[in-house]
Amino acid sequence: MDRRDFLSSIGVGAAFALTASCLGSCKKQDVTPSSVDFTVDLTASSNAALKVKGGYIIQNQVVIAQTLSGTYAAATVICSHQGESRVVYDKINNQWYCGAHGATFAINGSGVNNNGKNGLTVYKTTLTGNNLRVYS
Ligand code: FES
Repeated sequence: MDRRDFLSSIGVGAAFALTASCLGSCKKQDVTPSSVDFTVDLTASSNAALKVKGGYIIQNQVVIAQTLSGTYAAATVICSHQGESRVVYDKINNQWYCGAHGATFAINGSGVNNNGKNGLTVYKTTLTGNNLRVYS
């Protein structure tokens, strides 16, 4: 049985379902989580970058930074331009930056350049002792 015979035997509806399923799963992830709530332990060695101004980590699809002014900020790594998961903190310019096509976003998520014009989802942060809560 070749591919055509197989598709004929299962019918058009099933073929559509298989195709739609593949298209859905093959699509680049571009869905920013709407609900985020987790805590980062600043004493953990894996989070040491957050102890210095300009440092950042990525956890749970969220980039978390200590900004140059010493405050904490968080944003999704998923860029609003074309859905690439490449947003990081740019300490030179104190903004979010996507390495895919150069989109830039202010710390509050507003777009800075044309590729960043759709803005970026940002999250709240609260520091209690050495625990940094990141939440929407
Ligand atoms: S996907 Fe981020 S700049 Fe294009």
